[in-house]
Amino acid sequence: MKNLQDEVLSRRTFAIISHPDAGKTTLTEKLLLFGGAIREAGTVKAKKTGKYATSDWMEIEKQRGISVTSSVLQFDYDGFRVNILDTPGHQDFSEDTYRTLMAVDSAVMIIDAAKGIEEQTLKLFKVCAMRGIPIFTFINKMDRQGKQPLELLAELEEVLGIQSYPMNWPIGMGQDFMGIYDRFHNRVELFKSGDHTKLPLNDEGQLEESHEIEDSPVFQQTLEEIELLNEAGNPFSRKDIDNGQLSPVFFGSALNLFGVQTFLESYLQFAPPPKGRNSSAGTIDPLSKDFSGFIFKIQANMNPAHRDRIAFLRICSGSFERGMPVTLSRTGKQVKLSQSTSFLADDRTTVNEAVAGDIIGLYDTGTYQIGDTLVSGKDTFEFERLPQFTPELFMKVTAKNALKQKHFHKGMQQLVQEGAIQLFKTAQTDQYILGAVGQLQFEVFEHRLKNEYNVDILMEPMGQKMTRWVDAEKVDEKLSSQRSMLVKDRYDRFVFLFENDFALRWFQEKNPDIVLYQPMEDKN
Ligand code: G4P
Repeated sequence: MKNLQDEVLSRRTFAIISHPDAGKTTLTEKLLLFGGAIREAGTVKAKKTGKYATSDWMEIEKQRGISVTSSVLQFDYDGFRVNILDTPGHQDFSEDTYRTLMAVDSAVMIIDAAKGIEEQTLKLFKVCAMRGIPIFTFINKMDRQGKQPLELLAELEEVLGIQSYPMNWPIGMGQDFMGIYDRFHNRVELFKSGDHTKLPLNDEGQLEESHEIEDSPVFQQTLEEIELLNEAGNPFSRKDIDNGQLSPVFFGSALNLFGVQTFLESYLQFAPPPKGRNSSAGTIDPLSKDFSGFIFKIQANMNPAHRDRIAFLRICSGSFERGMPVTLSRTGKQVKLSQSTSFLADDRTTVNEAVAGDIIGLYDTGTYQIGDTLVSGKDTFEFERLPQFTPELFMKVTAKNALKQKHFHKGMQQLVQEGAIQLFKTAQTDQYILGAVGQLQFEVFEHRLKNEYNVDILMEPMGQKMTRWVDAEKVDEKLSSQRSMLVKDRYDRFVFLFENDFALRWFQEKNPDIVLYQPMEDKN
C-alpha cells in the first residue's frame, strides 16, 4: 500500500441521487465500464429480457425493475479509487437511503432533461444539502427533446435553491443534438461522429480550426448562450463547490455513453476526498492512524447462494487490515475483523486492506447494529447518530403455517435488524406488529420471508398511525385503547400508536405527565 495519506486522498465516495427512470442504472453501468470493473455492462434494455444491472441484487428488484436495496460498487480510474453507493430511488425506502447518504462525501444528481427536478430527487437533494456535501449534476438524455438548458438551470436555482456552474453546455438537443461545448476543457465534443471527436477552442471560445458545425444555427445559438453564461452566470468557485453551494453541471447522454467520461474526469478532479467527521470525541481526522468507522446498513441474504448477513461499514479514519482487533463502542467489546469483503463490481472479493473513504462489508452473526461505531484506538467514541424515521403504516403479522414458527421468528429478527422495517409487539399479548414508512416495505418483507426463509405470512393492515415513544421505564397498561394502542419496540421501549392527531392531543391533555417523543426529534 502507498502511504496512508496518498491512499485516503485518492478516495472518492459518492451516491447517485435521482428520480426513478432518470438514468441512474445506465450511468452507473457506464462509469463501471470506464473503470474496467465489468467487461461488458449489460445495457439497461437487458432489464426487460432478464439480465440486470450489476447493482441490482435482489430478485424482487428484478421483478419490479427498481432498485430496492442500496449496493456498493468500487472501481479504480486514473489513480483514484471510486466507491459508488447505490441508493434506492423508490420513495418507500427513504430510511435506508438517508442512512446511505450519511456514508458518502459527495453526491451525483441525475436529472432527466425532459422532466427537470422530480419529487424524489428533491427529497434526496435536501438530505445532501442538509449535510452540506458537494453535489454534481448530470443532465441526462440530451439525445431526446427536453426542456431548454437555461430553463433547467433556473429550476435548479428555484426548486433546489442551489447555484450552478455549467461545466459544459449542450449544442442542440433531440434530433438536433450535436454535442457539448466544454467550457472547462475548452473544447467541443461532437456527438454524432462515432468516436466523439474533440475540437479545441481558442482563447475567444471559438473553434481553433473551422469545422462544418459552425454553419449550423444550433451551434450559433450555443455560442450566444455561452456568452450569456460568461457574462451573467455564476463564477466558478472551488470553495462553493466544496461546501455544497455551487453545483457543477454537465450535460450528456448516459445511454449513448456521451459526456460520461468528461463528467467522470471532472468529477474526480473536483469532488472531495474523505473529510473529518463529527463524533463524541470531536472531529475525527481521516488521516489519523487509528482506524474508525460506522455501520450504516445491515443486509441479510444479499446473495441467496451465500446465505449470509453483511454489515456495511464506512471507514472514517486510518486503515483497515484484515484480522485487526477493534472495539465496538456501544458495548466496549473487542471484535476481530477477519471476515470482510469489498465490493468490486463483478464479484465479492475478500478485502485485506482498505482506508478512510472505503466501504467494507463485514460478515455479521448478530454482533452489529445500524449506527455502531468501531474503533481501533485506545479511546472509544461514537460517530453522530444516523437518522431514524417514525413509521406511519402498520400491519399485524403472523405465520400462515403454525409449524413454520421457528423460521418465521428467525427471518423476522434478521430482517428487522437490517433496519428495513420496524418491529413492535403488543404490550399484553406479544402479537407482532410491523411498522414502515411506505407500503412497498411490507411487500418486500413478505417476499423476502417467502424466498429467503420459506415462510408464508398473513398480514392484517392496521392503517396509518401516529407513533410516539414514551420516555419512561414503565407505563400503565390501562392507558392502552383502540385509539391509543400501547406496544413495545424491539428494545422493549414503550410506544403508543395513536389513531390520529386528535387521539394524540386528547391523550396528551389527559396525561400531561407522560413525555412522548419521536426518534428524529430525539430525546437525547
Ligand atoms: P433509473 O436507474 O434511474 O431508474 O433509470 P435507468 O438507467 O433504468 O433508465 C431509465 C430509462 O431511460 C431506460 O429505458 C434507459 O434506457 C433510458 N435512458 C437512460 N439514459 C438515457 C439517455 O441518455 N437517452 C435516452 N434516450 N434514454 C436513456 P428503458 O427502461 O429501457 O425503457 P425504454 O426507453 O427502452 O422504453
